[in-house]
Amino acid sequence: MMILQMLSVFIALFLSNSAQGANLSLFINKETDLKVPEIISKYGYPVENHYVTTKDGYILNLHRIPYGKDQAFGARPIVYIQHGVLSSSADWIIAGPEKGLAFVMADAGYDVWLGNSRGNRYSRNHTSLDPDRDASEFWNFSWHEMGIYDLPAAIDYALDIGKQKRLFYIGHSQGTTVFYVMASQLPEYNSKVTAHFSMAPIAYVNHLASPMLKYMALFQYQLEFFYSLFGKHEFVPTDSFMHNMTKLYCQLEPWKTMCANSLFMMCGYNPKQFNMTLLPTIMGHTPAGAATKQFMHYTQEINSGMFRQFDFGYFGNWINYNSAFPPKYNLAKVSSPGYFLYSRNDWLSSETDVLKLYKEIGNPAAKILIQDPMWNHLDYMWGIEAVPLVYNKIITLMMSHVDFSLI
Ligand SMILES: *[C@@H]1O[C@H](CO)[C@@H](O)[C@H](O)[C@H]1NC(C)=O
Ligand SMILES: *[C@@H]1O[C@H](CO)[C@@H](O)[C@H](O)[C@H]1NC(C)=O
Ligand SMILES: *[C@@H]1O[C@H](CO)[C@@H](O)[C@H](O)[C@H]1NC(C)=O
Ligand SMILES: *[C@@H]1O[C@H](CO)[C@@H](O)[C@H](O)[C@H]1NC(C)=O
Ligand SMILES: *[C@@H]1O[C@H](CO)[C@@H](O)[C@H](O)[C@H]1NC(C)=O
Repeated sequence: MMILQMLSVFIALFLSNSAQGANLSLFINKETDLKVPEIISKYGYPVENHYVTTKDGYILNLHRIPYGKDQAFGARPIVYIQHGVLSSSADWIIAGPEKGLAFVMADAGYDVWLGNSRGNRYSRNHTSLDPDRDASEFWNFSWHEMGIYDLPAAIDYALDIGKQKRLFYIGHSQGTTVFYVMASQLPEYNSKVTAHFSMAPIAYVNHLASPMLKYMALFQYQLEFFYSLFGKHEFVPTDSFMHNMTKLYCQLEPWKTMCANSLFMMCGYNPKQFNMTLLPTIMGHTPAGAATKQFMHYTQEINSGMFRQFDFGYFGNWINYNSAFPPKYNLAKVSSPGYFLYSRNDWLSSETDVLKLYKEIGNPAAKILIQDPMWNHLDYMWGIEAVPLVYNKIITLMMSHVDFSLI
């Protein structure tokens, strides 16, 4: 049973890769092939591409919707939105102008910046390293580096272009992890954040319910096997065994249905909120690329129950940290006001872990349990009722913080 579950999850994970190779009718959908800026303009919104270079040379592509539909250009508060692992800025727009978080925020009067983490399809570039030729160096990062390099660079850039002193931060899943990393390692950045909103907060993960990730965590101690399945540097490169298997199975009729269902198996089951029409588009944009090291770092947390830096093993830790164990992130230093949005059917962000994290951050402002007992990890992006249940709540909370003297 476990193997079957895993198999179906792998199929979901690698669907988009297979879509590029095989010509599946499931994927014949215009939006699947469009890039984020093209989709944004298609819906009649202004869009800008920006490139930011991090201190360690990664070139990130940020997408900006500077103002809403039928609005005029002018200074306004910035909201910076950061996606989760294997995702991209596409998460916030593919649900369309009525439901996509990026559009909802732009229409609510915000200057919207969408981040793209290093290594994803929009940020697969570096000043001196090539992601394929220099794979072992290029993919040598986890979410730790995203927190200490990507976010600070992107935030400073957005504040500069938007001529603001502070911004609102919204993160989903890994997009929340990287925020806690930044705010604890570089606490001076808290003063640049009016408030941060964590959708499906992820820092402690040892209570997660997802069978697939629990299973993956067992491989922490069998690195070679882990690498042979998922790739040593880039997570699931296109010629890997998993990719080939997915390509094969997703073409066969009985497996196609499983492809669709497997997303639920990873993230929690909630068909009521899932818009099946969006499935091909979602699969066209996800997975968007990641480093195997990001998963290694999470599996370490599943096993250790701690939120701390990457574990290089006993000798590696002495070399890197001058101690036997990696240092913990000091959550008390996360001092900008923090709002948590969480649910009880999220297989990745469990209530136990969320409440523990909430107690430990420096400035917890409020925690909001989503009013759908079946709400899952994906619903923050594409849930049919995401606007009333999540986004409108964030907008209301943001309004209480807007400092109009800065605009
Ligand atoms: C894929 O399918 C579409 C629609 O059926 C067709 O127009 C296109 O030529 C096909 N592409 C390839 C590479 O077979
Ligand atoms: C990567 O960035 C360089 C600038 O440093 C640029 O010339 C090049 O076109 C970029 N490559 C891609 C694939 O975006
Ligand atoms: C990867 O980064 C670590 C430090 O984070 C360093 O010790 C190691 O040498 C790097 N490996 C490669 C291949 O660049
Ligand atoms: C996967 O398929 C590609 C060709 O499509 C092949 O080059 C590669 O060796 C295969 N990988 C494995 C692990 O079977
Ligand atoms: C499902 O997605 C399609 C395509 O974006 C959209 O037209 C439709 O309104 C959505 N349905 C619901 C119930 O949100």
